[in-house]
Amino acid sequence: SDIEKGTYPHYMLKEIDEQPAVMRKIIQAYQNEAGELSIDADILEAINASDRLYIIAAGTSYHAGLVGKEYFEKITKKPVEVHISSEFGYNMPILSEKPLFVFISQSGETADSRQVLVKIKEMGHKALTVTNVQGSTLSREADFTLLLHAGPEIAVASTKAYVAQIAVLAVAATVAAKHAGHDVEFDLIKELGIVANAVQAMVDSKEAIEAIAKDFLATTRNAFFIGRNVDFFVSLEGALKLKEISYIQAEGFAGGELKHGTIALIEDGTPVFALVTQKPVALNIRGNVKEVVARGAKPCIISMEGMEEDGDTLVIPNVHSLLTPLVSVIPLQLISYYAALHRDCDVDKPRNLAKSVTVE
Ligand code: AGP
Repeated sequence: SDIEKGTYPHYMLKEIDEQPAVMRKIIQAYQNEAGELSIDADILEAINASDRLYIIAAGTSYHAGLVGKEYFEKITKKPVEVHISSEFGYNMPILSEKPLFVFISQSGETADSRQVLVKIKEMGHKALTVTNVQGSTLSREADFTLLLHAGPEIAVASTKAYVAQIAVLAVAATVAAKHAGHDVEFDLIKELGIVANAVQAMVDSKEAIEAIAKDFLATTRNAFFIGRNVDFFVSLEGALKLKEISYIQAEGFAGGELKHGTIALIEDGTPVFALVTQKPVALNIRGNVKEVVARGAKPCIISMEGMEEDGDTLVIPNVHSLLTPLVSVIPLQLISYYAALHRDCDVDKPRNLAKSVTVE
């Protein structure tokens, strides 16, 4: 069944491998009889009746929310704010006139997010929950639900739920854009199909990625992840993944922020993972790589086909520029997995962590 490990040594590896199938499942689940992407009319109306979306989430789901903001702003032309659930209660922004709250939660049970949901419902606002678990608390207590269709996620480190969250947010943003009468210049069904194949190519590159993990992370005490635009958001996720299962101190940040402080930490041999999937900022991030290399860093450059250069460590297949997080995150998940494995860490049940955090 879905919740058995089968021949896999760890749930995390099994769940990483399931990601191409999760992409295909989402394409299928959100298609109507006419073969077009669709979501419930009530949800479309709620999105388009609102003047601003407030995405609320924690951890990996928060990182997916950052990518989701790009989709709703670029495709749907809808202003979006993304907030960490635990901060929202006492750091509430001045709300717009017609807010719609979007809770992103794999488990649907995260207490910090539920606390916000209870509060905004008391204030009379509407909520949409994007979750993997039908009937979960956040799903039951919200007005609307979008399901991730990722199948049960058992490993503490979230992998397939992250890509499912991003894909479902892309679907919602695209369908809402069409509903609002905006031109959408790409065929998301086709583009997600291309993504599914690219994700497959990445999960099939385990040997090369394991070698990278051994080379860069076998003994280091820290590591950095840099990127610009959506690559920055994926850098945050790559760093979180590495921290939680390998206990290597890791930081993800925007390439442009290096010179504002973090570059002071670069020493001889410090691993720096750089993502290069966004053409408009490719030169800038490559410039950042040169800056850290000049201070002794050991760079691991993960670029996208079409903008690769000699010396890049890994090249991901070309996909639509908005959808690159779905593919670039895969090598980062696998790098974390193999780093944890080679450092003898308990991959599926890292110390001090629970799968869902049901206390505030
Ligand atoms: C992810 O790898 C983490 N274990 C964690 O950050 C998780 O994403 C967070 O606790 C939110 O959980 P949820 O999506 O179930 O609400």
